[in-house]
Amino acid sequence: MLACSNDDSSSSETEAADLVIDINNPIHEIQPTMYGIFFEDINFAADGGLYAELVKNRSFEFDAPWMGWKHLPETETRFNTVNELTIVRDANNPQNPRFVRVDKGDETPEFGLENEGFDGMGIKNGEKYDFSFVARQNKENITVKATLIDTTGNIIGSASTAVNGNDWKAYEVVITPTATFGAAKLQVTFEGVGQIDIDQISLFPQDTWKGRKKGLRKDMVQLLADLNPGFIRFPGGCIVEGRTLDQRYQWKKTVGPVDQRETLINRWNTEFAHRPAPDYFQSFGLGFFEYFQLSEDLGAEPLPILSCGLACQFNTSETVPMDQLDPYIDDALDLIEFANGSVNTKWGKIRASMGHPEPFNLKYIGVGNEQWGQEYFERYEAFAKAIYTKYPDMNIVSGTGPFSDGEMFEKAIKELERIKPELVDEHYYRTPDWFKENATRYDNYDRERFKIFAGEYAAQSVQTASPENRNTLECAISEAAFMTGLERNADVVYMTSYAPLFAHVNRWQWTPDLIWFDNLTAYGTANYYVQKMYGTNPGTHTLSIKREGENVTGKDGLYATAAIDKNSNELIIKVVNTLGSKREVSLSLNGLSKAVEGTMTSLHGDDAGVFNTIEEPSKITPSESNVIAENGKLNLQMPSNSFQVVRLKL
Ligand code: AHR
Repeated sequence: MLACSNDDSSSSETEAADLVIDINNPIHEIQPTMYGIFFEDINFAADGGLYAELVKNRSFEFDAPWMGWKHLPETETRFNTVNELTIVRDANNPQNPRFVRVDKGDETPEFGLENEGFDGMGIKNGEKYDFSFVARQNKENITVKATLIDTTGNIIGSASTAVNGNDWKAYEVVITPTATFGAAKLQVTFEGVGQIDIDQISLFPQDTWKGRKKGLRKDMVQLLADLNPGFIRFPGGCIVEGRTLDQRYQWKKTVGPVDQRETLINRWNTEFAHRPAPDYFQSFGLGFFEYFQLSEDLGAEPLPILSCGLACQFNTSETVPMDQLDPYIDDALDLIEFANGSVNTKWGKIRASMGHPEPFNLKYIGVGNEQWGQEYFERYEAFAKAIYTKYPDMNIVSGTGPFSDGEMFEKAIKELERIKPELVDEHYYRTPDWFKENATRYDNYDRERFKIFAGEYAAQSVQTASPENRNTLECAISEAAFMTGLERNADVVYMTSYAPLFAHVNRWQWTPDLIWFDNLTAYGTANYYVQKMYGTNPGTHTLSIKREGENVTGKDGLYATAAIDKNSNELIIKVVNTLGSKREVSLSLNGLSKAVEGTMTSLHGDDAGVFNTIEEPSKITPSESNVIAENGKLNLQMPSNSFQVVRLKL
């Protein structure tokens, strides 16, 4: 028997606890979808984040067309009659009507535009960047020059190309910067005399996830891949609903050629007066095709959530009358066809034209996000009827509203008991204490009822959506404690995801978040490591783990769950100590007599209030050590505020 040594001699010790695991009698199957990801374009998670485009407002379609752009030279106005920049609106291109007309009457150097990026642009020394645009030449010859500069105006890279021909054409040149800089700017200047029209001015790193052209930020996707997610929920969140119905997320506008995806204001643009984001729009360069592709890359089931014809009830509650709901329902049916239909179907053909003739094998679809009231349930039923009629094997997820208890929640549950959906989506943005107290939430749950999708949750260190919330170790450990209860009840809980996922360190609206990033790097919070420890150690079946004959659900701060992985024949034990003092936990592995080796991953810290930051991203990270269980015994030394996962090869 080996005691894992965790040197925490400073704190007082709690009485040792004996936990008994029955390794020979698997109880519930754990769904492969158990630990997943919630993605929403909040906190600049998509444009300015995961979507690697560095130019903000590349096609001048923000409400204010020059937003993000500055005219050069600054001393000269663009109304100068010799050299002029004009926004032109082409009614024949309704998805992307605006472009810039450049009139160059003389050889003024450095005449053009400067893009500020998303809080600057993250540029890396020696890497290759594709600068591209579409343009046509109306009169004579103009050369377009792209220059990357740092804050003091030093040039850190440039490239240029001449525009020729009267038809719109795509141009691309490569810039190889000579310095690394997180807040670079892109100057686009026009040399020569003449007139051109220009649009879709873009800058992407070549080094994207899987090297895909104009793709996703590699470091950020890698953090997602490391979670080993069972599913990806997309696109949210409140963004699904929109502040108004016009601003709801419409997947059909996010597929096909990127320049035909209509820009839309992001609902988080104006949501919080204390965190305004007037330049927050959605280009949909990361749209539904890219989402399905990402799910496939990560081996995760896609779980799209669609508008049910109700705009956010915290905002306008704009509602589609029942007799006008068909286009919304058609969107759901067409999405299933887009994902799964043969290449001979209308939407399957579009998927194939985007480079994926094989189906994406979509199995889940959610109707509505945080909706409540009769107006939601009648719309849900209309969606469910139409979806099941055409796709009887689809798993449909219903909402339960924004709260996980109280009158609104109880009413929703009553309705859902009548409707009997397969999966219901519950959200918990609560205090760390709530998470600890609710580790038993599903222990006595009616097994005949619907299955649970814990679709959004995060412990709030101050209060829900407070800008003072931090991703503290205390929050992370309380989530780990709560999750022992989700796993123990794997016959009821089929899917779980922390929310929100991403936040730009300077441009967030909502905190806490799982992963924070700036323009060059990204890091995981303590909460991220809890998710990772669960996601990479899910097991296939739960096992009984008892303390004095009872489930281990928080008596003097101790929580535990156990599972077996039948594929790898490994025993997986997860133990949480929420106390601010160390303790010893002795595990009796009933049914195991031989000595077995394994690993122990431990996340812990003396200070429960500590959190990782972009400057210090590794204050709280898990450490790993080897363990051996002998004669069916294993002792764990659990430090204060700790979560430990033991994996033993049987
Ligand atoms: O995760 C942030 C927001 O919280 C989601 O958009 C919404 O569903 C919830 O209220």
